[in-house]
Amino acid sequence: MCGIVGYFGPLEAKKVILEGLRKLEYRGYDSAGVSILDGPHFKRVRAEGKLKYLESRLAEENFSGHLGIGHTRWATHGAPSERNAHPHEVRGVSLVHNGIIENYLEIREALIEQGAELTSDTDSELVAHLIADEVEREKDLLAAVIKVLPRLRGAFSILVVWERQPDRLIAFKDGPPLIVGLCEGQALVVSDVQAGLAYTKRFVYLGDREIAEVLRGPVRFFSAEGKPIEKTITEVKWSSEAAEKQGFSHYMLKEIYEQPKAVSQALSPHLHIEKSEISMDWGQQDWDLTKVQRILMVACGTSYYAALTGKYYIEKLARIPVDVDLASEFRYREPVLSPTDLVVTISQSGETADTLAALRLAKQQHVKVLSLCNVKGSTIDRSADGHFYMNAGPEIGVASTKAFTCTLSVLVCFSAHLAKERGRLPKYLENEIVRALTELPGQLELVLSFDKYFSEAAIELKNHRGFLFMGRGVNYPMALEGALKLKELAYLHAEGYAAGEMKHGPLALIDRHMAIVMLAPADEWYEKTISNLEEAKARGGQIISIGTVGDEKLRQLSQRFLAIPRAHWAVNPILSVVPLQLMAFHLADSLGHDVDQPRNLAKSVTVE
Ligand code: M6R
Repeated sequence: MCGIVGYFGPLEAKKVILEGLRKLEYRGYDSAGVSILDGPHFKRVRAEGKLKYLESRLAEENFSGHLGIGHTRWATHGAPSERNAHPHEVRGVSLVHNGIIENYLEIREALIEQGAELTSDTDSELVAHLIADEVEREKDLLAAVIKVLPRLRGAFSILVVWERQPDRLIAFKDGPPLIVGLCEGQALVVSDVQAGLAYTKRFVYLGDREIAEVLRGPVRFFSAEGKPIEKTITEVKWSSEAAEKQGFSHYMLKEIYEQPKAVSQALSPHLHIEKSEISMDWGQQDWDLTKVQRILMVACGTSYYAALTGKYYIEKLARIPVDVDLASEFRYREPVLSPTDLVVTISQSGETADTLAALRLAKQQHVKVLSLCNVKGSTIDRSADGHFYMNAGPEIGVASTKAFTCTLSVLVCFSAHLAKERGRLPKYLENEIVRALTELPGQLELVLSFDKYFSEAAIELKNHRGFLFMGRGVNYPMALEGALKLKELAYLHAEGYAAGEMKHGPLALIDRHMAIVMLAPADEWYEKTISNLEEAKARGGQIISIGTVGDEKLRQLSQRFLAIPRAHWAVNPILSVVPLQLMAFHLADSLGHDVDQPRNLAKSVTVE
């Protein structure tokens, strides 16, 4: 979604803001702009398309200044165009906005009636008008914001400056994140810590209906009513280098290759190799998980597929019933919740609007929420009762890869922990799982070393008209994930199916133009999966199989056989998804697509 960067300090604001916006490019956007205070007035430059167009426009201009705001826009109200790009300026007030103002029509009509001249189709410009009107009466930007905030409904984060008070930025939000970076003698406001990491590791996350008055150094925080409030400082451990490409052509490729290290990082707080033990701590020692009668896992996209896999793990190991919901459905379907339920939200970004709404719904109904996030301090992380982490490090590519495999690894530990608490994890099984997880990073390295074969397979996929990804058991969610990766990166139609469902419809699709990607590692579902594969083959389907190294039967049944090492059933999906990630990457890259920022998509979906 939209990216926001504001700066006030001794450095050239234009440079700091552009650097910050570059770090936010991964979120997806369609236009960009900056406003810099140059002398008594703001100088604004905006451009449709990628940041490079804004940069070349800026290169033609000769201005500089130390206070400014910048924005990358992901269109909601109004088409992607220069006139709709931010910042919006109204009588010396300059403003950038992420989110949606839901009572936009009502505000627009009132403003038009008062004679306001609107220059864009956005809801954001309307807020700039409201603040410009108030600031003329109040002569103070903070006072104007306090007047305007109660008039706004929706999910928004806003950064605003006024040329008559050139010593401050005002930030406020009700929904998407807005974060103040604390650094000596300068001020930074960003929508994502990535944009500020080069300057500070100390951040304050603004809460909903809170306001920050950011001066050059000191920052004051207020409630929506203008009462001073205290905020806590979060120290972020990520380095700015971790968010660079480090020699890889794409962030996604770098993140796929980081998986052995990321997974080992994800496992390290829970896996005690010397004692051959698994245990977890989510900061709520008094929780008695033996009383939990049902777990509800809620997430979106790839995180939802991780949750689906978690259901297999938890039900098989801990024997606790698990329901898995798409957050966008959960929040509106009036779910029946009970105090003996535990809701587990999964979100890489920790900012997905639907997942956050689902979490809030559960909390309103007094159900405990455990969050599994990658971004520490994110809104979902802060809103949950208990916390555990993917520990994958920054994930920049829009397509989630390492966060997914880290989530699966942590979910294996979670299931084992639950099983242990319920007396259902015999020591031999714990040893077996510890061994499987300990070997996992090395096995991931091995899978990555076969990349050449995945890239060859990807090029063959180009000739197909449709794609069916299939698997059973824990590999069924991998089929869904493989199909999603192909859709979002290569823009090709792909379906993920439980292999056992073939006879219930998808078999009709199969002919020689259809590529079947069959996940068939050696596990308890193997024989059944092979039968499904034979059915597809008999109807002319072109088979690309992913199976255990040395499986000659599978090799012979397939046009292409891609091997993964022999592994524990719970670990198989973490290995088998890697060829799917790499095939989608290579195919999309060979088609000339922007792999890191697929069209129409954003990294974190902070609005509905
Ligand atoms: O940050 P989250 O994990 O909550 O994001 C959920 C989805 O938006 C995300 O997984 C999306 O499906 C990815 N683009 C998939 O690669």
